[in-house]
Amino acid sequence: AKLTPFVDPLPLPPVLRADQGALLRVDMKEAAQRLHRDLPPTRVWTYGGCMPGPTIEARSGTPARIEWRNTLPTRHFLPIDHRIHGAEKDKPEVRAIVHVHGACVPTASDGYPDDWYVPGQSRLDTYPNKQDAATLWYHDHAMGINRLNIYAGMFGNLIVRDEHELALGLPQGEQEIPLTLSDRLLTEDAQLYYPVSGNSEAPWVSEVFGNAMLVNGAILPYLDVQPRRYRFRVLNAANARFFHLKLSGEQPFQQIGSDQGLLAAPVSLKSVLIAPAERVDLIVDFSSMAGQQVELVNDALAIMQFRVGSGSVRDTSMVPAVLRDVPRMPESSATRTRLMTLDQYDDCVAEPMLMLLNGKRWHEPVTEKPVLGSTEIWSLINLTDDTHPIHLHMVRFQILDRRPFDQGQWLESKTIRYTGAAQPPVSGEAGWKDVAQAWPGMITRIIVRFDGYVGRYVWHCHLLEHEANEMMRPFEVVPA
Ligand code: C2O
Ligand code: CU
Repeated sequence: AKLTPFVDPLPLPPVLRADQGALLRVDMKEAAQRLHRDLPPTRVWTYGGCMPGPTIEARSGTPARIEWRNTLPTRHFLPIDHRIHGAEKDKPEVRAIVHVHGACVPTASDGYPDDWYVPGQSRLDTYPNKQDAATLWYHDHAMGINRLNIYAGMFGNLIVRDEHELALGLPQGEQEIPLTLSDRLLTEDAQLYYPVSGNSEAPWVSEVFGNAMLVNGAILPYLDVQPRRYRFRVLNAANARFFHLKLSGEQPFQQIGSDQGLLAAPVSLKSVLIAPAERVDLIVDFSSMAGQQVELVNDALAIMQFRVGSGSVRDTSMVPAVLRDVPRMPESSATRTRLMTLDQYDDCVAEPMLMLLNGKRWHEPVTEKPVLGSTEIWSLINLTDDTHPIHLHMVRFQILDRRPFDQGQWLESKTIRYTGAAQPPVSGEAGWKDVAQAWPGMITRIIVRFDGYVGRYVWHCHLLEHEANEMMRPFEVVPA
């Protein structure tokens, strides 16, 4: 049945302040949430009782202390594949561990996938927040099942602010709105459906796409706005869907930030493509649209509506032409280049499709041991037919370029022959990133300085089904 669009106001998650040193407690718990006026409540698993969970406000330089309590039920309501590494039958069904995506944090609080704990247990984590203002997010990372936990609703925003950004005069307060996007499959009675393969022993599927698009946990919501500038912190929290966003009527907007905070300068756009786990920070100026309705559109389908009030308001917000200094990291600063393949094996009859990083499985010994403080170039050699959003924990990086290459030659002789010119990152990707879209047929090069902490972290594809099934590897930052 078709749901009436734009009848529910856009939900705004409650705010939790972690910027004054207080200890926060967040309970992971089951809840029933109405995704649309005309649907019965949907069972979800949440942080703090709502999906998305509370928006945590943090301040650069002020450590945030959060106790994450696992108060989930002991049975999972989504299909576990026990053949997936870390989800074997001897493991408890319900396990959870929080990762703050984009946080530079000691490994003990990074949410290492094996550090999961069960209902009744809790964990106190400290996030130093020694990093620039950025839209981070938190989500589950439990080995072998985080795709299910996130699909169930376990994600939320964590916003780091700093003095520099606060002084710019960007739209704030009621004009600064998080838009967290996801997609879900719903059953007739509006319950979450997670698809399975035909093989009940191996229910894993390679990607999940929903037919219901959710913004802040609501289907087709609307937001009343005034005819003035707004800042939208957009997060793609979907398991596998890329969102290709634009405004109806080809209305232009500006991008001012990406994963790890502000760009050097605003970029004018008419559309933007966001892979899972990426963030874009957008400015929309509704001042010329007074009294109108504008839709936020993914490909050709509206996903929410902005109702612009009439009249005019005095808008003192600004979008400065220079947002911050983002010096390009010179290639010459790298002391090491690593060739990292993204591989796909789908010719085996008995096994489900498998995608690996560097031909290695999760449990194999660590092969990447960058030295603390050193700079490396990672060449992501994509040998598959998909774009994989590749994420490294703990660090921020820059995208150097993408360049088409001869896959056949690589497979034969492990040598690189480029077949075209190198393309610089698109303008909205030219700032600090923590996810890079590795495009098919291309070698995507990123440059990373391993600043922060020594210890064991992970890097992985952020298509959650890929990550779960071996497209994740540890790396270890070693002392200088
Ligand atoms: Cu969004 Cu391993 O993380
Ligand atoms: Cu992938």
